[in-house]
Amino acid sequence: MSNALPVMPVPEKPHEVHTLQYYGDFERTVYTTDEETLFPEGYLIVSRTDLDGVITHANDAFVHMSGWERDELIGTPHSILRHPDLPKVAFKGLWDDVQAGKKWHGYVKNLRKDGGFYWVYATIIPNVRGGKIVGYTSVRRQPSREKIAEMQALYQELKAQE
Ligand SMILES: Cc1cc2nc3c(=O)[nH]c(=O)nc-3n(C[C@H](O)[C@H](O)[C@H](O)COP(=O)(O)O)c2cc1C
Repeated sequence: MSNALPVMPVPEKPHEVHTLQYYGDFERTVYTTDEETLFPEGYLIVSRTDLDGVITHANDAFVHMSGWERDELIGTPHSILRHPDLPKVAFKGLWDDVQAGKKWHGYVKNLRKDGGFYWVYATIIPNVRGGKIVGYTSVRRQPSREKIAEMQALYQELKAQE
């Protein structure tokens, strides 16, 4: 399995250019537009990863919402979806919890292949076999607009402190 993140195509729409620094000390250029894809009602986005957060399973809703093809997602780190508006500390809490065998809930703004974004309310659980964590599963639901507004303000504040 390769851990390289796929190159993002440059959006045709007006966009911003960002350089993101990822865990493991590598960089990638990403593009953002202000186009939001609304999370459809009743939808569930599901993915599974190995212990390093490399995607091993993606359901159809995940493929559709992220804009990437399934074979571009499988074998790729979940940070392929990382949006530059999210502070690093949001992911630190996630990893601390799941590596300790705990469930994590949180609001995440995700980056689409086309530079747009979508908000999710995610629940991540460790998959345990024979007393050992063997990977993680994430299920995302539609978040409320109130929570999105609240979390957007909080993340902006945390990001400014980084
Ligand atoms: C099961 C699982 C699901 C994840 N889902 C997302 C996600 O939807 N969006 C995201 O940006 N990071 C997600 N992450 C966190 C990423 O692995 C990564 O930590 C994050 O994008 C920050 O990138 P970095 O760790 O390279 O700094 C997930 C991790 C796990 C274990």
